[in-house]
Amino acid sequence: MPIITPLTKLLNIRIPVVQGGMQWVGLPKLVAAVSNAGGLGIITALTQPNPAALRNAIKETRTLTSKPFGVNITLLPSINPPDYAGYARAAVEEGVKIFETAGNSPGELIKYFKSNGCVVIHKCTTIRHAQSAAKLGVDVLSIDGFECAGHPGEQDIGGLVLLARAAQDLKVPYLASGGIADARGVAAALALGASGVNMGTRFMCTVESPIHENIKKTIVKSSEQDTVHIFRTLHNTARVFKNKVSLEVVSIERRPGGAKFEDVRELVSGQRGRLVYETGDPDAGIWSAGIAVGLINDIPTCEDLLRTIEKGVEDVITNLNTVVVKSKL
Ligand SMILES: Cc1cc2nc3c(=O)[nH]c(=O)nc-3n(C[C@H](O)[C@H](O)[C@H](O)COP(=O)(O)O)c2cc1C
Repeated sequence: MPIITPLTKLLNIRIPVVQGGMQWVGLPKLVAAVSNAGGLGIITALTQPNPAALRNAIKETRTLTSKPFGVNITLLPSINPPDYAGYARAAVEEGVKIFETAGNSPGELIKYFKSNGCVVIHKCTTIRHAQSAAKLGVDVLSIDGFECAGHPGEQDIGGLVLLARAAQDLKVPYLASGGIADARGVAAALALGASGVNMGTRFMCTVESPIHENIKKTIVKSSEQDTVHIFRTLHNTARVFKNKVSLEVVSIERRPGGAKFEDVRELVSGQRGRLVYETGDPDAGIWSAGIAVGLINDIPTCEDLLRTIEKGVEDVITNLNTVVVKSKL
C-alpha cells in the first residue's frame, strides 16, 4: 500500500523520506540513489568548492536520475561566509525546484527561492523558528529534535514533544527529523502528524554513500551511546561521533575558564573531518552522527532500505490494531 502524504504529493515522490543535507556526504551518487528509490535525495551545496562545481554536481545527478531531487544550503555562523547567493543562483539556473535551507537567518534565501517558484523545506529545531519560517512562506518544515546528527539547537527537546507541539501549532506540513532509521521511526513520525521524515545518519550507511567502508562498519558496530555533543559551551551545539578528537574537544571545553573557538579550531577543522570519510580512520577528525547509529545494523542499497521501510511501515500500522485495547461497551 503506498504511503501518500502532503509531502509525497507536493514533491511527487513515492515514499515520504528525505535525505537531509550532509556535508561531504550529500554527493550525486547518493542523492540519485535516494531519489531513484522513491525518496528525495538532496545535494549539499557547500560540499562543492564553488557555485560552478555545484552546477556540475547538479548536472551529474541528472545523468543518474530522472526523479526529483533537491539542494541543501546551510547558513553557518562564519567570519568569511561562503557565496550563498551564488550557490542559490547556480542551482536555480540549473533548474532545481526543491531546496532545503538550514541555519541562521534564511529569510533572503527563502524569498529568492519562492520568487523563483521553488519548493522550500526549512530545517529548524524550535517551534518558534518553525513559525517564523512559515511566515516567510516555506512549504514544509523539517523539525530536528535533540536526537539528530549535526546541530540540535540549545534547548534539548526530544522529537516526541517537539513533533506533538508541531501538530498543535503548525499549519504547514512538517517532517520529523532526528533519530529515525527504520520503519518504526517513520510510522511513529506519521502518528505524530508528520508528513514524512528526514534522515541523515541512516543514509550515511548505505551502499551508495560516498564515505569509506570502514566508517560504515564503524556505524554498524556503534550503539546509541557513541555520539557526543561538542560546542555546548560555545552555544553552537553539534552532535558528532564519539572519538578521540570529539572527547578532546569536550575536555578542553570543560577546562576551568572554558574554551574559545580558537582553542579547538584545529581539532574541529572541516578538512580533518573530511579525512575521516576519505581514509576510513574514525579518529582522524570530527564527523557528524546521530544517536540513530544505535539502530543501524546493516549497509543496504538505498532501494532495499526504502523498500524495507515502506513495507515495515505498513506492518507496524496494521499491527497497531492488535495492541489497541477495545472497550466491550
Ligand atoms: C554526516 C552528516 C553531515 C550533515 N551535514 C549537514 C549540513 O551540512 N547541513 C544540514 O542542514 N544538515 C546536516 N546534517 C543533518 C542532516 O541533514 C539531518 O538533519 C540529520 O542527520 C537528521 O538526524 P539523523 O542523523 O538522526 O537522521 C548532517 C548530518 C550528518 C549525519
